[in-house]
Amino acid sequence: MKILGISAHYHDAAAALLIDGLPVAAVQEERLSRRKNDSAFPIAAIEYCLDEAGLEPDTLDAIIFYERPLLKFDRVLTTLLRAFPHSRRAFAHGMKNMLGEKMWIRGIIRAELGVPKARILFTEHHQAHAAAVFLTAPTRAAAILTADGVGEWATLTTGTGRREPGGGTSILLDREIRFPHSLGMLYSTFTAFLGFEVNEGEYKVMGLAAFGRPTMADQVRKLVSRTADGAFRLELDYFDFHRTVRRSFSDRFVDLFGPPRNRYQPIDLATQDGQRFADCAASVQLVLEEILVDIAAQLRRRSGLPDLCFGGGVALNGVANARILRESGFERVFIPSAPGDAGCALGAALFADRIHFGRPDRDFPDHPFWGPAVDGADLARIAAEDGLEVDQADDDRLIEESADALVAGKIIGWMEGRCEFGPRALGHRSLLAAPHDPAMRDRLNRDIKYREEFRPFAPVVPVEQADRFFELPPGGSRLAHFMSGVFPVRPEWRERLAAITMLTARRAFRRSTRYSRRASMPSFKPMAGARTFRSCSTRRSILPGSRSSAAPRKAIRPSGGAGSTC
Ligand SMILES: [Fe+2]
Repeated sequence: MKILGISAHYHDAAAALLIDGLPVAAVQEERLSRRKNDSAFPIAAIEYCLDEAGLEPDTLDAIIFYERPLLKFDRVLTTLLRAFPHSRRAFAHGMKNMLGEKMWIRGIIRAELGVPKARILFTEHHQAHAAAVFLTAPTRAAAILTADGVGEWATLTTGTGRREPGGGTSILLDREIRFPHSLGMLYSTFTAFLGFEVNEGEYKVMGLAAFGRPTMADQVRKLVSRTADGAFRLELDYFDFHRTVRRSFSDRFVDLFGPPRNRYQPIDLATQDGQRFADCAASVQLVLEEILVDIAAQLRRRSGLPDLCFGGGVALNGVANARILRESGFERVFIPSAPGDAGCALGAALFADRIHFGRPDRDFPDHPFWGPAVDGADLARIAAEDGLEVDQADDDRLIEESADALVAGKIIGWMEGRCEFGPRALGHRSLLAAPHDPAMRDRLNRDIKYREEFRPFAPVVPVEQADRFFELPPGGSRLAHFMSGVFPVRPEWRERLAAITMLTARRAFRRSTRYSRRASMPSFKPMAGARTFRSCSTRRSILPGSRSSAAPRKAIRPSGGAGSTC
């Protein structure tokens, strides 16, 4: 059976193809279009998936969309009407938005792919998030937690999943928190307040938090109160996202936290305002962690299961994920390579296969490499066309020379095999640099990635040596499998790993960074015996506002002619 999953029209559009229960291809549209967070109907991603399998669209047995448009319309309409007349401007915008492409997705799929109506299915958004994590994780029974900004109505769900070997699959989400009460919206509101782009800059808030103190945690707690049943609710007077499109926080919010940051002003931590922004970030980060740990601990007690599958955009917060692992009582925490909305394309396809059609359980390959592959011959031809020197080396020489180049302070653009599915650079599209020199961090941030100084890099080490460098809780290496956890660097390594260690400004406390294990990491062992490497995505290696590419030509010429190795 051939099933295509699609996510689109909010952010991070993507497509994923399953054949007989196993993935064949999955890619985010932005990787092909190079438009940041491309939300358009993912026609290029769909074409890639079908080409990879040699299929025509009319041979697909089912196409499944990652949310239910009518339920979403119901939420948008109800929310706007509740806030009327305050929402009158947002009303026109919201209706135009929903009554455009979003409502008529079945017709768009039919028009674009020429498939009969009966083959087009829909899943609820958080079911897709839950399937994307539970049905890709190496576990047969797990508690499930999903959290994001909002889907149709749900913003957070909890439940359980069970897989019978060769048999049936169940995902039961039995509790949910509904819009506008949303941890994702709480964090996004601070993202906007701190001058970053919502749905894109949340990881900058997490990075900035390491440079602040949670001095305003009590103010944040005023925005989000806990309820007797262990859930939470937002105090809506502090927010505007539910009634206007102009801004997400209200004047009362500004009374609590001061004026918002102008997005064009750099954050200078030496100034009072710069430190206030870092403290705001640290405060919302702390409160988010506390609530997530508490909800996860309740779920642990209620489910009695040792494994947690955590999905949704909030699961991209590696600091919170590490605290959940340490403090909630779960022994293992699984987070997929694409926990956000792009991953819902794969989740929806898995949901259709295992649950809608009731097909037998299959183990999902435990790696993220489902995107377009790089072809060495193509790469050599393109480089030669550009007048770059081409050298072909066997693995031993490649690794030896790469290690020497890293030690000499060079930055290497590394591209191999199929592109990662999800936002992390997990070794197939990465920039590699030596981790010992803090100047390297500044150079990467300033010259290569054009980004703020507080954003972290991820060290790469063989998984069996992870304990040597990092203070890992039990289960930590699994959480780091797809770069989903942030852990402290061991004290004896902090100086030697200065470029990947974040220093909080006032506590003189070195914050951890993430590390990842590549599926093919053993090939780096000769290099990594005495050294670790840090890796960052080529996604933003290029120019601000552009995206990494799965294609060799775009990766080799990221900024209009510069080679990727420097
Ligand atoms: Fe989502």
